[in-house]
Amino acid sequence: MKTINIAIDGPAGAGKSTVAKMAAAKLGYIYVDTGALYRAAALFITENNIPDEKIGTALKNSDISLKFIDGVQRVFIGNRDVSELIRTPEISMVASRTSAIPAVRAYLFETQKKIAAENNVIMDGRDIGTVVLPEAEVKIFLTASAEKRAERRYKELAEKGDCPPYEDILSDIIRRDYQDTHRDTAPLRQAEDAVLADTTNLDLEQSAEEIIRIINEKTGSES
Ligand code: DC
Repeated sequence: MKTINIAIDGPAGAGKSTVAKMAAAKLGYIYVDTGALYRAAALFITENNIPDEKIGTALKNSDISLKFIDGVQRVFIGNRDVSELIRTPEISMVASRTSAIPAVRAYLFETQKKIAAENNVIMDGRDIGTVVLPEAEVKIFLTASAEKRAERRYKELAEKGDCPPYEDILSDIIRRDYQDTHRDTAPLRQAEDAVLADTTNLDLEQSAEEIIRIINEKTGSES
């Protein structure tokens, strides 16, 4: 059976995961967060102190995988569920650096292709429309200004009682944007046939509605 693949790319903090999750639930697709794979690779590399030149070989034995439990994605290293462990600022920074290494991207490429071949997916990442699923039925580039993304992240952390200075969050976002867009292998960029969705002035509900509208328009369905 031919599956329907929807690619959503964009910078960190644009709201991709929340918006893609909402749209996937509405449309009955599986939501795939590919950043989790890069974060799991970063965790594996950090925990095992693997030097850059040995990463390719080491990853072949890492057994990083995604499992969908009641439609919700969990990420595993072997039998160990690392879905929560990968969500630290340290792993964000390591993942941004190690995701630029071609051997890391090559290792995770097949995992992503296989999931998309077997399921109707909304897959979010940085190079889904450009490299992983160039034939995707719908491609969306979701973005927002760096200031707005920092503001959202600040509010999210403040609600959890964690209050790093706004300026630190903003400079982190700017640094990650730079790393993600300037790497040689599969840099973050809008695919030529992707629809641009700027969420700077939209809340999450409105962003999800906009995404669903684009998907319905492109796939010719309505809901
Ligand atoms: O979306 P995220 O912040 O969880 O992603 C973590 C890092 O992984 C990010 O710095 C960029 C990288 N990444 C990537 O290079 N390609 C993807 N398809 C997804 C994430």
